[in-house]
Parts: sequence; C-alpha cells; structure tokens
Amino acid sequence: MNTSTIDHSPDLTIRKFLINLEDGFPRHWHGDAFQTQLYNALSFSFPAGEQAFIDSVRDCLPMLPADAKYDALRTSAKNFIAQEATHRRIHERYNAVLAQQGLVNHWQDWIPKRLAKFKAKGVHPLNFLATTVAYEHMTAVLADLMFENPWMLDQATPDMQALWRWHSSEESEHRSLAFDLYAALGGKYRNRIVCYVHAVTLFAYETTAQTVINLWHDKTLFKLPTLWGFLKHGFHPTRGMFIVMFKPMCEFFSRDFHPWKNRSQAPAQHWLSQNQARWQALGA
Ligand SMILES: [Fe+2]
Ligand SMILES: [Fe+2]
Repeated sequence: MNTSTIDHSPDLTIRKFLINLEDGFPRHWHGDAFQTQLYNALSFSFPAGEQAFIDSVRDCLPMLPADAKYDALRTSAKNFIAQEATHRRIHERYNAVLAQQGLVNHWQDWIPKRLAKFKAKGVHPLNFLATTVAYEHMTAVLADLMFENPWMLDQATPDMQALWRWHSSEESEHRSLAFDLYAALGGKYRNRIVCYVHAVTLFAYETTAQTVINLWHDKTLFKLPTLWGFLKHGFHPTRGMFIVMFKPMCEFFSRDFHPWKNRSQAPAQHWLSQNQARWQALGA
C-alpha cells in the first residue's frame, strides 16, 4: 500500500437542507455576472458528477475484506453516498431554476459520455475511485477556501450563501472517505497522481467551457465588467482563486498526503452549528 490512512473523520450526518428554490432566485444572485455563472457552472456539474462519485464508491465497497476492522469505513461510505445524494437532489432543483433563466447544462452530457467511454475500455473500478479521490480533494479545497475567506460569498443572496456553505461543510466533513477507501483497497500512489492530473485538467477545461456558455446565454460574455470579474477573481495577488488554490492543490502530490493532514473539522462544524435552522438531521 502506498498511501496512509489517518482515521479522524467526523461521523457523517445526513442532513436535509431547507431552502425554497421553487420561487427561483435572482439571475445574478452572486452580485456580478462572472462569479454567478462560474458557480452556476459548478452547480451544473454536480448531479452527474456526484452520481459518478457515488457509483465509484459503491462499485469498490464489495472489494473490502469482510473483516470487522472495515465496518466503520463501510458505514462512513454509506453515509457519504447519502450526503452526495442529497447534494444531487438540491442541485437538480437549483439547476431547474437555471434552465428557466435560459441556461443550458452541457456538463450533464459530458460526464456520462466520458464514463461510458472509460467503462467500455475496461478501466478498473479502483481507477474510477482514484478519480473520485481527485475530485473530492478539489471540492474540499474549494470548501476550505469558502470558510477561510467568507468574503467569497459576501455579495450573494442569503439563501445562496447558505446553500453553498452547507454543501461546502459536507464536502469538508466527508473529504477523506474516498481516499480512505482507496488506501484500504491498496490503491497505488502512481495511479492516484495520474488520475488527479487527468481530473484537474478536465475540470479546468469543463469549468471554463460551461462558464463561457453560461455567460453567452446570459448575454454578458463580451462585456467589460465580465472580463474584469474574471481577472479580479482569478488573479488578484492575495484573493485570486488561481493564486489561493495553487498550494493546497499541489499538496495532493505528496506521498504522505491525507485529506485531513493539516486540516481541521472546526470551520465546517462551526458553520453547521451556527446555522441549524437551515438543515434537519435525517440520521448518521
Ligand atoms: Fe457533494
Ligand atoms: Fe463530496
């Protein structure tokens, strides 16, 4: 085994997030067009993307030995699946509002087509799980950034701030499940890195493509404030996404990387405890 398991994940609670999306939300709920359409692009990826994460964990679970020492991991995996399933459901409702606003979700076609292609080539389930490990690291990095830099959502409507922070808190909470399962199954360092490089490249390309398409439908693609928003939010020396994400994204390359290494449960748990009116526990 090339990867280490550090078992200090919190117990995973299944939560129903309480929000009324049926009445819609403002077209530029994040204040400016660029940020709104970037977040909307990410939302478009979640129903198909998180289903792929669920499937990869579900396909690998039977490979765990029947030993009782894996019972806690099996339970966490079931709760991980339930958390991701609730994320899918909320983002399907979110995305229905985006469709009413005239946006078109291309990501929901790209993901199943790609998965079908890899499955047809006979890619091993552990490599699908390694890809989930990669995406879970990216979502955990984004979640950490949202808690470390509250200004990232300051301009957003209160409901949308809560929605993104709820999703972020659970991404932070279950950040190590896929990694721990991969490690328990003897997943190799080399495959973890190959899948990560592939996933990061694809994610960067598809996020850019879906955001540009959203801005096109929003009729804000060729506006100067959109270009300014991209430059400011991407490359500001201390606040730019590409600048602040670089170091935590590179940590994944370390041989002794673990999703909880130098990370704390505190920011996500603090938000959850301060916002209990926003969610209902369904079980753990
Ligand atoms: Fe999620
Ligand atoms: Fe996740």
